Amino acid sequence: KRSYTITLLPGDGIGPEVISVAKDVLVLAGSFEGITYEFREMLLGGAALDATGVPMPDETLSVSKQSDAVLLGAIGGYKWDKNEKHLKPETGLLQLRSGLQVFANLRPATVFPQLVDASTLKKEVAEGVDLMVVRELTGGIYFGKPRGFGTNENGQETGFNTEIYSAHEIDRIARLAFEIARKRRGKLCSVDKANVLEASMLWRKIVTELALEYPDVELTHMYVDNAAMQLVRYPKQFDTVLTNNIFGDILSDEASMITGSIGMLPSASIGASGPGLFEPIHGSAPDIAGQDKANPFATVLSAAMLLKYGLGEERAAERIEKAVLDTLNRGFRTADIYSAGTKLVGCKQVGEEILKSVESHILAA
Ligand code: NAD
Ligand code: IPM
Ligand code: MN
Repeated sequence: KRSYTITLLPGDGIGPEVISVAKDVLVLAGSFEGITYEFREMLLGGAALDATGVPMPDETLSVSKQSDAVLLGAIGGYKWDKNEKHLKPETGLLQLRSGLQVFANLRPATVFPQLVDASTLKKEVAEGVDLMVVRELTGGIYFGKPRGFGTNENGQETGFNTEIYSAHEIDRIARLAFEIARKRRGKLCSVDKANVLEASMLWRKIVTELALEYPDVELTHMYVDNAAMQLVRYPKQFDTVLTNNIFGDILSDEASMITGSIGMLPSASIGASGPGLFEPIHGSAPDIAGQDKANPFATVLSAAMLLKYGLGEERAAERIEKAVLDTLNRGFRTADIYSAGTKLVGCKQVGEEILKSVESHILAA
């Protein structure tokens, strides 16, 4: 019998709604594989600010570090939007990522055949898309110094940030992307802004040198503005996409829409050692929070990534992936992925249907 300690960070807005579904799915899928869990629910983001005055309490990081994996909902909301930077929910999330040293954020965007009609792109453009964004997560402009507010020579207020990458930071994320590309379709597209930014010039140089160690992977480079356009022009050209922190944030939201909704995209954040952090790519969706409208598939698929990448439990992960497809096959949809002829239901019911699919898949196996 295998037992794992999982830290749950529901966070804010729709976070608790989607985490509740994903937790039940983890438990049921695990039960068929002899897996048990000890869950520890901790505070992050606005919820932590309200309860403790800081967005990432020390205890949240220490408990997360001591667990086998961390599953996060989402953080943020109107209530805290005007907070000073160190008291923002988003700052708490960045402190957690940095504290766990999860430098690699894997964001797969897969168009399920059942959801082709939910995509805003034409069927022939969207169908068959299966790409993986490898986003650097603990460096770049999100963390670079100097940063802050100041005054310029004309007495004008300024705000400034620094896009900076060390050779080491680029090397480790690029290696991981080459390894992932090798296990996929052998194509890696590195996205940068090397025509303008020094940090990107170094990025491109290091990625190009590293390619010599991966002769079986076909490496291409693309400027980020072109990549944003190519993603909606002909997304099937992409297999693995390697990029920095901020470009990866933006391009993965764009890629999500090819699949039908941002409510479909999971992610896995991993480091050299220690527990991984698993979270949907979407935010706390304050506009629909508390209304049972949230799409829980992204978080459920993040739980599958937790099993696969975080715990090495591939069979349980596969059960969840199959249950997601089965639930979609049976026609259940939240509003964001609804199309004519399917069944519009809420977050909770989608969760119940996924649980039924987990059961029936096991019985059929
Ligand atoms: P968002 O992703 O929360 O929402 C964007 C739009 O997508 C909204 O219309 C929302 O209703 C919809 N949406 C998102 N997830 C959905 C789901 N699962 N099902 C159905 N619809 C969904 O982005 P935003 O509005 O720019 O940000 C809201 C807050 O979330 C902000 O405070 C932001 O900082 C935070 N945020 C947090 C994370 C995170 O926790 N990792 C990620 C992104 C944004
Ligand atoms: C995400 C979010 C975060 C990011 C914010 C909330 C800090 O947009 O997880 O994609 O920019 O990384
Ligand atoms: Mn984002």
